[in-house]
Amino acid sequence: MIQAPKGTYDVLPQEVERRRVLTGHAERILGAAGYQRIETPAFEATELFARGVGEATDIVQKEMYSFDDGGGRSLTLRPEGTAPVCRAYIEHGMHKLPQPVKLWYLSSFFRAENPQRGRYRQFWQVGAEVIGCATPETDAELIVLLAELLEAMGVRGTRLRLASLGQPETRGAYRDELVAYLRAHESELSDEVRGRIELNPMRAFDSSDPGTRAVMAGAPKLLDRLSPDDAEHFAHVRSLLDATGVVYELDPTLVRGLDYYTRTLFEFSSDALGAQSGVGGGGRYDRLIEQLGGQPTPGIGWAAGLERILLAAPEPPTAPDAVDLLVTVADRESREAHLAAFVIAREARRAGLAAQLELTGRSLKSALKHADRIQARYVAIVNDRDQATLKDMTSGEQKELGAAAVIPEVLRGDRL
Ligand code: HAM
Repeated sequence: MIQAPKGTYDVLPQEVERRRVLTGHAERILGAAGYQRIETPAFEATELFARGVGEATDIVQKEMYSFDDGGGRSLTLRPEGTAPVCRAYIEHGMHKLPQPVKLWYLSSFFRAENPQRGRYRQFWQVGAEVIGCATPETDAELIVLLAELLEAMGVRGTRLRLASLGQPETRGAYRDELVAYLRAHESELSDEVRGRIELNPMRAFDSSDPGTRAVMAGAPKLLDRLSPDDAEHFAHVRSLLDATGVVYELDPTLVRGLDYYTRTLFEFSSDALGAQSGVGGGGRYDRLIEQLGGQPTPGIGWAAGLERILLAAPEPPTAPDAVDLLVTVADRESREAHLAAFVIAREARRAGLAAQLELTGRSLKSALKHADRIQARYVAIVNDRDQATLKDMTSGEQKELGAAAVIPEVLRGDRL
């Protein structure tokens, strides 16, 4: 048997409804705030992600599905949406539009990660990006919109962590300071952290080793090293969030796996999820458009994993799709009746009814059983070209009528 590839899954009909609910909330919440939907291609030039997401990130080093297009160019299935949206902004000259440009997307992404609950190789993100605006209001607005979306979906146990990375220059100086601090405490650190001091000193904040934790409690924090401008921007974002009542925790150790971030950084997690607790996150990327060849243009955005939202949200009670009418025939051998049934089902749908034709040729008895199972309101049993019996499945009453009268009768919807 051929199975779906590891880390991928089928979206079966019963799950489509919950996705539709999420799409509806995203459309409503983001649409009302003036965000417009954008969709970019499923694959892009590999260079876009190497430059945009960052050569040193796990995503670019280990997780990209890259392939040769047959003409010597390397393409990659998109692992994330921010770099593609910025590419589209530059490519379509969106800087000429009224700024900022506010966009959202709901697309599938691909990462060659080890699959587990909440982590897939093809997954979906709902994301929003605001390009062309550097004000703290933009940061706070985006965070509030994601909070609203998670709330509308009923995501349980959410926690919002917030930090600021400042500008790359501040971060460079801070990194040197942190490396020097770690070197000075080398003997107290775990082997793993000691081995990665140069490579990724920030990771030491995530360590569960008691010795390392004790060292890190006294380590310098980036949040205390921000430039006055960055500190003021961050304080403003926080006061806006305070004013709206969105609860957050400052987390100076927050790290996200993408290199483009500057200033504000945030992440929502849910304790209803297991190890993969990140529901959605994002941040500012004021240098990215320039890195991709555009004019210096600030940007900020977030993305949230659709599967994780659905895992962390309660299952709504599922109501079967409404069926107004099932059309079947009294005599399976009657060609005339089959023709008339076919026409009635089509006309009924054109009249706005949810009408199904009995397609299998099953006996009348089992067609009525089937009508019960799909909870059809009425069954039209077509006798010949212009005679039918209409059965009300709620009351059990039935009525003989002309074939042409079936649809008006169902539309009237009264008990027979
Ligand atoms: P990210 O944190 O890599 O950010 O992904 C955002 C969300 O996508 C995660 O919080 C998680 O819910 C979901 N996600 C990521 N990887 C997987 C996976 N393998 N399986 C299932 N869900 C996953 C970004 O992608 C940035 N582009 C966000 C952003 C937008 N920053 C600025 N603008």
